[in-house]
Amino acid sequence: MIIYKAQDYKDMSRKAANILSAQVIMKPNCVLGLATGSSPLGTYKQLIEWYEKGDIDFSNVTSVNLDEYKGLDPNNKQSYRYFMNTNFFDHINIDKKKTFVPDGLEMDTEKATSKYNEIIRNTGGVDLQLLGLGHNGHIGFNEPGEQFEKETHCVDLAQTTIEANRRFFDSEDDVPKQAYTMGIKSIMQAKKIVLIVSGQDKAEILDKALNGPITPELPASILQLHNDVIVVADKAALSKW
Ligand code: GLP
Repeated sequence: MIIYKAQDYKDMSRKAANILSAQVIMKPNCVLGLATGSSPLGTYKQLIEWYEKGDIDFSNVTSVNLDEYKGLDPNNKQSYRYFMNTNFFDHINIDKKKTFVPDGLEMDTEKATSKYNEIIRNTGGVDLQLLGLGHNGHIGFNEPGEQFEKETHCVDLAQTTIEANRRFFDSEDDVPKQAYTMGIKSIMQAKKIVLIVSGQDKAEILDKALNGPITPELPASILQLHNDVIVVADKAALSKW
């Protein structure tokens, strides 16, 4: 595991964007596993800037996103499809047909999850997976539990996650209670994983995830078993290190 200590959020974003752009430059038809949340926003912003300067070409890239709220329309401003389009895809030359997010509108869990597993398989495998870290140690929407879930599944969101994501919705009642997420096995199958973490409020969970026991009660702890993980975290997030 390599750990890059960044000065602050901006520095973390630039360092992470450097790793992603190197991936795209070295393998123009790579498969990127992408994440939502406030952590990757700066990374996407930086990549857009470099794209606009002509430094990166996304035309042959495929992307698979980690998760989506169950029940949200892609046009719903809080859906992760909307997030990805407005914060990244609309600003670069990626072929939208090659960008995948679980289908939040498919209410049949079995259909939604098996379809997404097939999509992931058909990409041939994720070259680089970008990950944020939830306050309770979740990755994607793999919440703390009794076992590591393997493939795409439907999760009941933890109350703390609902509260954390409430800031994006009008009220807590509007936050979906379930989501589809890529499983831990699918995440671990990525060739390279980049975990980005910012802020003092994540310091304790980051320390536990990387130094504590590997347990499904802290899903990100499984990353200790991956052989190519790069952690890009700012000073505040690494303050308990
Ligand atoms: C959400 C997402 C995760 C993300 C996490 C942290 O619940 N499903 O993929 O990593 O929250 O979000 P943030 O980066 O906003 O702290």
